[in-house]
Amino acid sequence: MSDPHLWWYVSRASAMIAWALMTASVLWGILLSTRVMRRVDNPAWLQDLHGYLGGTSLVMVGLHMVSLMIDSWLSFTAAEVLVPFATAFKPLPVALGILAFYLLVAVQGSSLLLKRLPRKFWKGLHYASYATLLLVSFHAGFSGTDVGSLWYKIVSITLISVAAIAVTLRIVAGRRGGSARRTDAAPTSTPLQPIPRTMVVASATGLADGIVGIRLELPDWGVLPVWPPGSHITLHLPSGLQKQYSLCGDPANRNQYDVAVLRTADSAGGSSWIHENLVPGMSLSVSGPMNHFELEPAADYLFIAGGIGITPIKAMIQSLPAGRAWKLVYAGRSRQTMAFVAELEAQYPQRMIVHASDENLRGLDLDVILGPSTAQIYCCGPESLLNAVAARVPAARLHLERFVPLERMARPAAPIQVACRKSHLEFTVAAEESLLDALESHGVPILGSCRKGICGTCEVRVAEGRPEHLDSVLDDTEKDALGVMYPCVSRSLTPALVLNI
Ligand code: FES
Repeated sequence: MSDPHLWWYVSRASAMIAWALMTASVLWGILLSTRVMRRVDNPAWLQDLHGYLGGTSLVMVGLHMVSLMIDSWLSFTAAEVLVPFATAFKPLPVALGILAFYLLVAVQGSSLLLKRLPRKFWKGLHYASYATLLLVSFHAGFSGTDVGSLWYKIVSITLISVAAIAVTLRIVAGRRGGSARRTDAAPTSTPLQPIPRTMVVASATGLADGIVGIRLELPDWGVLPVWPPGSHITLHLPSGLQKQYSLCGDPANRNQYDVAVLRTADSAGGSSWIHENLVPGMSLSVSGPMNHFELEPAADYLFIAGGIGITPIKAMIQSLPAGRAWKLVYAGRSRQTMAFVAELEAQYPQRMIVHASDENLRGLDLDVILGPSTAQIYCCGPESLLNAVAARVPAARLHLERFVPLERMARPAAPIQVACRKSHLEFTVAAEESLLDALESHGVPILGSCRKGICGTCEVRVAEGRPEHLDSVLDDTEKDALGVMYPCVSRSLTPALVLNI
């Protein structure tokens, strides 16, 4: 503390570091959002780098402001560093810096509350990062005590150039995505009500016994919305049936959707209609993609697929960087009934365990497979497999995609008083009526699809009241954290619900 200008040095250094970190955070966020880094192996901690950089830059900005007040030479007052135009020292550039600070607080704060905020709101606020960087550049360019020195000019020009290139890259990538970007913005777990689009069947190919692969394209060869692995689309069949199928192609391919359809004997006719009638050239109404089977960043993955459950898992594997640690356990009745088995085995011979029941009379030994694993487990397939895996893996490491609804205990159904905030409607849902049916019959704009609590299409935000979750879409705690419910099957624990729809 012998140097009388120690805090002046701190204020200069923290300001420069904050500016550099902010620039790096915006650049890294753009690289992630534009998928430029998709093929580069970035471990989980690197995925979080964007957040760490932004958070540290806010800490540095705080240090800069505090040191401005502590330094006996500069001696800013609290009002001068917190209130725009309260200082006589270069009032406009300082005000821009203060404004940037508040924007940065809003951006970082909203990121901490990401799961509790409407995704659109968060995303809109997150775009304020660009404005923050612009304001900081003006602030630093006109108010710093080092302005005018050669080193400062070099650093400033470098940071501003990097920011300009990054923002240009974002704008170009955004334009290429066109309107389809809107769906990219839709959260994987808080989707917008999907609007069907007409697509054309480009091919229908047998993938395995009883499984047909359908490729869908836009009639004008347009670009499709970005979809994260684990997503599904809904096919609206001419009979009025709506069927959900996981996307199993490469998530980086924006020109087509690939699904694999297993013909099931007990279906309501959807899969048999597809097998018997769907031919190339045919048009089909398709909505989505939606995602309730999100692939979270992790250092190590264990994928377990049973039968047709390979479809979302295949897309997940395909989206992982080459160097990421993962293993796939793929089980089925026989290789003839297992779609993509040969292709995956050829591609990833070291990472796969194939268990075909007709080759291996002993069942799949999940204790051996799961016992030593500390990986994040992603499992999709028949109920028996999901239940067996769920019984052995802690919920924190478990991610399941269900094809059939969970059997859940419901309380005796009672009438619910429902208010819809945006539609300005209030009505009573009878005990024997589903909440989704009641919303539809009152003209509330909501879509349903599976009506069994599996697909997530009918998701609605709960403003007041406690829903009784009876669906199989997400963990109940996750739904409560997000403030959502699925009214096709779910009801209410409170006599009244207020819905944000
Ligand atoms: S319509 Fe599928 S979850 Fe409600």
